[in-house]
Parts: sequence; structure tokens; C-alpha cells
Amino acid sequence: MTDFATVDFLTDQSLVPDPYPYYDYLREQSPVLRLEPHGFVAVTGYEEALEVYKNPEDFSNIVALGGPFPPLPFTPDGDDLNAQIDAHRNQFPMYEHMVTMDPPDHTKARSLLSRLLTPKRLKENEDFMWRLADRQLDEFLSLGHSEFLAEYAKPFSLLVIADLLGVPEEDHKEFRTVLGADRPGARVGSLDHEKMGLNPLEFLDEKFSAYLEERRRHPREDVLTDLASAKYPDGSTPEIIDVVRTATFLFAAGQETTAKLLSAAIKALVERPELQQALREDRSLIPTFVEESLRLESPVKSDSRLARRSTTLGGMNIKAGTVVMVLPGAANRDPRRFTDPHEFQVRRPNVREHIAFGRGAHSCPGAPLARVEGRVSLERMLDRMGEITIDEEFHGSAGDRRYNYEPTYILRGLADIHVRFTGRG
Ligand code: HEM
Repeated sequence: MTDFATVDFLTDQSLVPDPYPYYDYLREQSPVLRLEPHGFVAVTGYEEALEVYKNPEDFSNIVALGGPFPPLPFTPDGDDLNAQIDAHRNQFPMYEHMVTMDPPDHTKARSLLSRLLTPKRLKENEDFMWRLADRQLDEFLSLGHSEFLAEYAKPFSLLVIADLLGVPEEDHKEFRTVLGADRPGARVGSLDHEKMGLNPLEFLDEKFSAYLEERRRHPREDVLTDLASAKYPDGSTPEIIDVVRTATFLFAAGQETTAKLLSAAIKALVERPELQQALREDRSLIPTFVEESLRLESPVKSDSRLARRSTTLGGMNIKAGTVVMVLPGAANRDPRRFTDPHEFQVRRPNVREHIAFGRGAHSCPGAPLARVEGRVSLERMLDRMGEITIDEEFHGSAGDRRYNYEPTYILRGLADIHVRFTGRG
């Protein structure tokens, strides 16, 4: 039995399969609580998480992904660290990507995304998703079983982003192979801290630099040309590398997270046959089903900030230099916000208040896309598969169920999920 009072949240594997009792334990002591041995502050309360998300003046995104790892590249000095952060910014992992930026650089980087996520592009991307869902299902449907992450969720979420960015279809296979989206356990654009010192996105950087340089020289009628000619709001032209980073980060941010959402959704379907039946009978329940899956198994497990000024949070003094770790999966089960928070309720009235996509200036720009990915996938699976059940050969019988989760404090999600289904075609 894990001793919650002394366990190390960042490394203790016993918390990985089911972190939720631990989150409840923390929240009961205080929704804002300092944790040892690393000395960061864990935020498990809903209102307190919103307070952090909505206060970029006091909380910098520079440590958004890794939290307390690696340690700060400077010794905090005083109650205002803005100058120190700026002087050391490029010593932080992933500093070149928008998720770690603060205004005004963040505002500028994010403006390039609006060029991409236009209603027209999103509609075309959705059309592609319907075709892609069928293509993926065709790969294994006749077998009657599937390891759903490797055979559907990972390649699907990867190729949706490839299409969003206008990667030519003839290159999709290369993306899938090189980025390992069809190998069990493979991680695409890994956001894990072990890899963050390197540049996990090197392949994508090279690929997109080549695409965009070519399109600047020889414009065509395509999405990559739109991206290559995108301008900042002040009319200036970004450096190629800044556009490349915007494009490549979408893979890191949107592939694994969505694959985790899809696998959490299918787990809910196979573990709750009555819910599966309800969705088959009433497809209008699918959107809230997706939201409830996001609330209960929020794929972003921790989302950190660095207190850049001494401040207060939920009544607690926070000294400048403190890492503040929001745990969306904990906030989303805060009983002060969600009644019976551990229950899956497909008709939960306030489900869209969940913060699985964060809030504030950095809130997930890919949320509409992820939601459509969930809806399209479920629609086509329910259309084309008969009863979907868990494969007990891999996961054990009902009284002895076993699931493997990714052993990381950054993301929450299954490592694999084997399902069986009767055929429909
Ligand atoms: C279920 C799937 C997803 C979840 C749970 C998720 C969650 C999040 C969260 C919590 C953040 C906020 C990070 C912060 O505040 O520090 C975020 C940011 C981001 N997400 Fe998502 N995301 C998902 C899918 C996607 C997709 C499909 C894309 C793009 C295709 C995407 C692109 C991004 C980008 C670019 C950012 C950084 C935004 C910024 O820093 O301004 N995400 N995501």
C-alpha cells in the first residue's frame, strides 16, 4: 500500500495505474499543496487551477511541460524573476515552442496558428477524417480484434495533423513510419522529459523546412503555400524556422494527447456495455460522451507554471521561483465542481466546464479538432463494428482486469488496449 504522505508523485510507479485516490488525498489536505522531495506546489482544486491559468502576470509558462525537471538554470533572486527568466530563457527545454513562451512572443507565435485553423481548413480536415477513419478500420476490421492504440488511435491522430498542415498524401506513409505511429508503445513527438533535452522534433523540423522553403520559392495552390506565406498581424514575414516550429509543435501537442483520448473513450465503451448500447441508439450522446472521457481521463496529466513574482494562490503564499503544477485530471474530479466526480455520467450537465484543454492564453487551440476526431472515430466504429468488448486474453477477466498506463507524470493514458468486436463491415 502506497504511503501518500511520503510518495514521490513524479517517479513512484505505484501511482500510475490509478492516480485519482492520491489526488483526492492531496485535495482534502489543501487544493494547493507543497510536495516534497521536489518542493513544487500541486494544484488539485478546480477554482485554484483556473486562478493559475488566468494569471500569466504571476505565472510563466516557461516550465509548462516538464515542471520541476530539469532544475532551473539559475538561482531565483528576489520577488520578481522576469529579468532572470528572460536572460536564461533559451536554457529551458522546448523554449522555442509556443507552449513555453510568455507574451509578447507567445501572442506572436500563436497568431500564426490562426492562419491555419480557419473554418475552411477545419472543414476540409474533417472531410479527410471521415475517409481516414474508414481507411484505418479497413486495416483490421476483418480480423475481429485489434490493439486499438497502435492500429487506430496513433496513426489516425498523426495523419489528421499531417493533413491539417497540408502534408501531401504521398508522404503520409513516411510520417507514419518515421514517427513510429504504428509500433506498439511508440511515442510520437514525445513530450517526455527524458527526451526534451534533445530535439524530439528533428525529423519534422527538417521536413517542414524543406516544404516551406520550396513553397516560398514556388508557390502553389495548397495549404503549405498558405502556411509559407503567412504573416504576423503587423504585416511582417516570419522567419521560416518560426513557421516550422508552429507546424511541428502541433504533432507533439496533438498526436499523443488525442490518441490517449480515443483509447480512454474506447475503454469506457468496452467496460460499460450499457453505455455502448445507449450510444448506438442515440448518437447525439457522442459529444458529451467525448467530454466526459476527457474529464475523467484528462490526457494532460500535469501542466506547470513558474511563479515569476511572489504571489498568493488559494490563500497560500507562493514565493517567486516556485514551480506550480496544475493537475487537470485532479481539478476535473474536484467534488466542489463536479458531483459524484468519479462516476462516468454521459448526461453530466456541466461536463464542458472541464479543463482538460487548459484555460486562458495557452488553452488548447487543437480542442475543436480533438473533439471532432473523437466524434468521427466513434461514429464510424459504432457503424462498422458490432458489439465491442475487451480482449480478456490481454486484460484479464472482469474481476481481475489489468491495464498498462504510460509511466509518466506528464501525460495520462493507456499504453495499449486490446479489443474484440463482432463484424459488420
Ligand atoms: C485530447 C486531445 C488534447 C488535449 C487533452 C490537449 C490539451 C492541451 C492543454 C492542456 C494545453 C495547454 C497547455 C498549457 O496551458 O500550458 C494544450 C496546448 C496546446 N495544444 Fe492541445 N490538446 C489536445 C489536442 C491537441 C491537438 C489535436 C492539437 C493540434 C492539432 C493541439 C495543439 C496544441 C497547441 C499548439 C498547444 C499550445 C498552445 C499555446 O501554448 O498557446 N492540441 N493542449
